[in-house]
Amino acid sequence: MNDDFYEEILLRSEAIQARVAEMGAQISADYAGKNPLAVGILRGAVVFMADLVRHISVPIELDFMAVSSYGKATKTSGVVRILKDLDEDIKGRDVLVVEDVLDTGLTLDYLMTYLSAREPASLEVCVMLNKQLAGRQIETRVRYCGFEIPDKFVVGYGLDFGQHYRNLPYVCTLKPEVYGGAK
Ligand code: PRP
Repeated sequence: MNDDFYEEILLRSEAIQARVAEMGAQISADYAGKNPLAVGILRGAVVFMADLVRHISVPIELDFMAVSSYGKATKTSGVVRILKDLDEDIKGRDVLVVEDVLDTGLTLDYLMTYLSAREPASLEVCVMLNKQLAGRQIETRVRYCGFEIPDKFVVGYGLDFGQHYRNLPYVCTLKPEVYGGAK
């Protein structure tokens, strides 16, 4: 892939990897003696989750959910639809939700309510990117956060534009001519 699509690299691969290692160490310490279940939210969280769990030293299991916001282009609509539910029963489990980005917080807020109803022993959130959103509608409790980023449309490290760019090892903004000025 040539590199004339990006405008600015916000987070380089080395910085991401160093932070993910720190987060993994922190999670390992916090969950010492436990057997947590990491729940990745498809599809964006896959890249981060794959790196993160390799820095976690406690026995950890993986499960996934797929959700979708109705009518989503690059902006969330706030109405969440579950496309794939958990395979595991989480009652009594220590559940760690893994997300790539917290934007409006609506997706996570919905998921927390949904998962809480299944009575996990604990329920925490680990998010790679937290957008500094002036108009954040919901403050979802996040235990682990990789980076605070500006409220810009970014791709890479799991985040896409039209399903592209998820495989970039860094996080960047796109040139306006590439993404058409969406946010
Ligand atoms: C992204 C991201 C979160 C959600 C965050 O998912 O992975 O799930 O949006 O937005 P919010 O805080 O405004 O609710 P997306 O629907 O783009 O799907 P993807 O993970 O497949 O890219």
